[in-house]
Amino acid sequence: GPVAKLLIEEARERGDLIQGRFWDSYSNLTLKTLSMLNWARRFCPQAHFLAKVDDDVLFNPGALLRYLNRSTVTNTYEHGDLYLGRVHLHVAPDRDPDSKHYLPRGAYPASVFPDYCSGTAYILSRSSLLKISLMAASSPLPTPLPPEDVFVGLCARAAGVLPSHCPLFSGGPAVPYGRCCYQAMVSIHHISPREMLRFWADIHSPPPCSWLGLRASLGVCKVRAMLGTFLGVDQGLVKVTMHK
Ligand SMILES: *[C@@H]1O[C@H](CO)[C@@H](O)[C@H](O)[C@H]1NC(C)=O
Ligand SMILES: *[C@@H]1O[C@H](CO)[C@@H](O)[C@H](O)[C@H]1NC(C)=O
Repeated sequence: GPVAKLLIEEARERGDLIQGRFWDSYSNLTLKTLSMLNWARRFCPQAHFLAKVDDDVLFNPGALLRYLNRSTVTNTYEHGDLYLGRVHLHVAPDRDPDSKHYLPRGAYPASVFPDYCSGTAYILSRSSLLKISLMAASSPLPTPLPPEDVFVGLCARAAGVLPSHCPLFSGGPAVPYGRCCYQAMVSIHHISPREMLRFWADIHSPPPCSWLGLRASLGVCKVRAMLGTFLGVDQGLVKVTMHK
């Protein structure tokens, strides 16, 4: 069809498209993740880490590298299993038939999921990627498929890979913009493409934020995000001015 034609054109122009063999829909998201894992396992043997990031998430590789570079983290994970992100604890399957995440008891009988990293953004080391993708490829796919992040969590649990929590991955509430805060965060959810370009340029322009500035602004933007949610305030951005 016309879409296929456009895709071929774009692939020719940019050389950065990978096409999966399934209909792209919300309930098929897990198949997309599965293709990503298999593709990365086969074609990226040189990559130490894989980042899965949603398209409404501002991802900051510099902050991730700084985090991974901290000696305690590096010593533990450089050659070992890393499954890093915002960890959801003790989540119960959705048993509401009208929900888009509906998972009947027949498909998943247990009353809670194993803890898993939020699908908005998570990081896998090479060894975790191998274990999780091999586990996913060797087990029969349940119907309906669980949400993609839950599915990765299930495969990780079965493969003996534990999730690690990192507070630098934003959670549910929108994080109000602050230059030093965004510079420190690894991932921030609910960002439009237009904002992404603007924020990216701003956080990568001088002056650099001091260590203290980073710590202080992280605290401030977290508290504001929580207050906004608590008060039911619209998740519009609040400009926070920070001093170095
Ligand atoms: C998922 O993809 C498969 C393979 O293309 C397709 O048969 C199925 O209809 C899709 N499911 C949904 C809900 O889109
Ligand atoms: C990693 O840490 C070393 C030593 O502390 C430092 O010299 C280097 O610049 C750091 N790299 C990154 C990407 O933060």
